[in-house]
Amino acid sequence: MTPFHYQNHRLHAEDIPLADIARKVGTPVYVYSSAAFQASYRSYADAFAGLPVTVCYAVKANDSLAVLRLLAAEGAGADVVSGGELRYALAAGVPAGRIVFSGVGKTRDELEFALLEGVMQVNVEVASELDALSEIATALGRTAHVAIRINPDVDAGTIAQISTGKAENKFGIAYDEAAALFRHAQSLPGVEPVGIAVHIGSQITKLTPYRDAFHRVRTLYEDLKAEGIPLQRIDLGGGLGITYRDEEPPSVAAYAAVVREVFHGLDAQFVFEPGRRIAGLSGVLVTKVITEKQTATKRFVIVDAAMNDLIRPALYDAYHPIQPETAPTPETVWTEADLVGPICESTDTFAKGRPLPPLQADDMLVIGAAGAYGAVMACEYNGRPRAAEVLVRGSDWAVVRRRPTYEEMLAAQSLPPWLEEA
Ligand code: LLP
Repeated sequence: MTPFHYQNHRLHAEDIPLADIARKVGTPVYVYSSAAFQASYRSYADAFAGLPVTVCYAVKANDSLAVLRLLAAEGAGADVVSGGELRYALAAGVPAGRIVFSGVGKTRDELEFALLEGVMQVNVEVASELDALSEIATALGRTAHVAIRINPDVDAGTIAQISTGKAENKFGIAYDEAAALFRHAQSLPGVEPVGIAVHIGSQITKLTPYRDAFHRVRTLYEDLKAEGIPLQRIDLGGGLGITYRDEEPPSVAAYAAVVREVFHGLDAQFVFEPGRRIAGLSGVLVTKVITEKQTATKRFVIVDAAMNDLIRPALYDAYHPIQPETAPTPETVWTEADLVGPICESTDTFAKGRPLPPLQADDMLVIGAAGAYGAVMACEYNGRPRAAEVLVRGSDWAVVRRRPTYEEMLAAQSLPPWLEEA
């Protein structure tokens, strides 16, 4: 049984009818399944059993503290990209020794905080960051354990917005320049080069780009060892895709088989940074129909979720599955509609020409595959409070991030003195 399924004609998350949650918490609301998070994390743990592996869940995909705690309890580490994410991971109980700090632009404050906390590794992808780390680590009397992220110049075959491993992307150090940077790192006080990192993109549905990138990593690892820079760790990033529509991404086991094949016989520890593959199918966004609008040519279904809640369709033209909360019957007549939110922009569209059943005000729709890059990318555009988030476990559920009140939204703002009396 999938974690989101119909039972007695109503869509459930595990054992909880989504309508119950919506009634108590309101809509729009993100609902996450603990079982789904655990199963997808375990697919990594199982696939790499026997190898020295740390699975550092990419916090950017879903940074709910409850999700982080759930994964930490499974043994996950974390991949963080800011001082904020580092604080979330620590607050959720992820040990610093299992945290990788990635990112193309880290501030000195962030680096200092990470070194003081003792993160496992800082993934460096700008030469100047090595010098900054050396200065900061020396001043603190610490050692910065560093991996250098290379740009393997492979095409991950994903949409341009989320491709990261091509030479034209801002990410990583050019393969040909990496060895020189490792030498530089080795010469710096306070810096210890420990590994190579690579991440070629996101929503990857083929194994070939991985295989190509991994071969380049292995070659560099062995070349460096031969020239007296022995490393101990290889961070292979994330990026494994999920099925939003009809994609057929490889299984985690097949991906692991490529890792085993390429790195066969190499003495190294491995780090993975999966985000979407762990979170994507573990969450849905529940929304309520406000009304319908029929124009001369089109049926519009207007719901109370909008692009501020889930921006992927607007930003990437991404497809998300949509299901009615009440199970359709064989008699249900589906007609094509555009599913839109209330925001005053035409990009505020979740789906175009999608078959939907007849709907009335207050009927609910469930936008699927919304566990990754959903709530984390939300904002308050159009004065809209961010959606609440709920975690389900069997027949238990809890709000894990409440919707802010309008008072709280207003409280962050202030008037300058010269406008107070205006
Ligand atoms: N590691 C690094 C260095 C990354 O940049 C990313 C994602 C990950 C790991 C996790 O990748 P994943 O396993 O989730 O594919 N907002 C976009 C996705 C951006 C991904 C950015 N980097 C979307 O909604 O599709």
